[in-house]
Amino acid sequence: MKSVAEIHQPVLAAVCADLLAPALTPTSEAVTPLSSTADFHNVQGPVLVDATLGMGGHSAYLLESHPQLRIIGIDRDPQARDLAATRLSDFANRLSIVGTTYGELDDVLAQHGLSQVDGILADLGVSSLQLDEAERGFAYAHPEAPLDMRMNQSSGFTAADFLNLAEVEEIAAVLHTYGEEKFSWPLAKAIVKARQNQPLQVSGQLVQIIRDTIPAPARRTGGNPAKRTFQALRVAVNDELGDLERFLTKALASVRVGGRIVVESYQSLEDRLVKRAFAAGIHPAAPKGLPVLPEQAQPWLRDLTHGSRLADESEVAQNPRAASLRLRAVEKTREPHPETRAGNLVRTKPKPAEKRFPTLMKLRAQNPVRPLDEGDPRD
Ligand SMILES: C[S@@+](CC[C@H](N)C(=O)[O-])C[C@H]1O[C@@H](n2cnc3c(N)ncnc32)[C@H](O)[C@@H]1O
Repeated sequence: MKSVAEIHQPVLAAVCADLLAPALTPTSEAVTPLSSTADFHNVQGPVLVDATLGMGGHSAYLLESHPQLRIIGIDRDPQARDLAATRLSDFANRLSIVGTTYGELDDVLAQHGLSQVDGILADLGVSSLQLDEAERGFAYAHPEAPLDMRMNQSSGFTAADFLNLAEVEEIAAVLHTYGEEKFSWPLAKAIVKARQNQPLQVSGQLVQIIRDTIPAPARRTGGNPAKRTFQALRVAVNDELGDLERFLTKALASVRVGGRIVVESYQSLEDRLVKRAFAAGIHPAAPKGLPVLPEQAQPWLRDLTHGSRLADESEVAQNPRAASLRLRAVEKTREPHPETRAGNLVRTKPKPAEKRFPTLMKLRAQNPVRPLDEGDPRD
């Protein structure tokens, strides 16, 4: 049987590693840990957070190319963590795997006695492993798969819970906002009508509704029409954008001066959040044309990719997942001034979109995702 390393190819691993390298050399200002309880803490060297450990592909590449590098690998999916622990067993003393969402980055660092790190990598979205597992319900190709879509099946609520409970307006808003679905209204109405006869339980029921509702000419362009609805539900069930916003805020605060952040996104909603978060530090926080920039308006991030970097043809040929990639990378050049708008990294007011999703909010409150998983193989 083939090993995970043989089956799974991380997307643009060498490019990510090159972008992170200057922050990961042991001669740099590498952050040293405060506590020294586990193996991980007894090894000296720079620290990187792999916020989406997945099957450990990027981490394997980085651990191999930087013999002194230590990695804190986060993943909310227990199955992914198990696979990564096996794949990375040769590096066990330089690796700490944590079961949580990357939005809890600050708690994860505190747990390791750290307040800042040298580098942070995030390869967003679902892994091919999750898409291939029929019973996870992420893929529309498995008609009997339950409409689940949770990345961590031990807590939270399912896509079916939401679809069987929400009002038509909210279903339409979720499909439109998170899936950029043009036919969100007719689809939402068809879902509400169908569930009056029988609650939605499996992927096949939803795929049939999509097939019956989206007009034939629209079905012939832009790939499988179920893709947008499934994406929207996955984003909603896992609060992917909310968690990404929390992560970006914390990542920008948690990387040291001279440290680097690399983010790989595969859909425009995620990339927009990354672009916005980075832009706040790349551009001066002052109107154009000021003769002298006040100290608090000075940029504090360097844009390493000059906007987003796409994969070229050969990279897509090597790994088809790279086709929709948008990669952004920054280096922190100084700490943001605490009084600048850019320096105000923590959002306090709820976004209007959150008010439009009362059922999602209620389901999230009733089914909280446990912050740190217990029983993790390598916690
Ligand atoms: C594209 S895969 C990462 C693949 C990895 N870079 C590799 O080379 O094997 C994305 C991973 O991120 C995890 N993930 C997605 N959203 C997450 C979140 N909010 N917090 C933590 N992990 C998350 C998924 O469970 C999945 O395993």
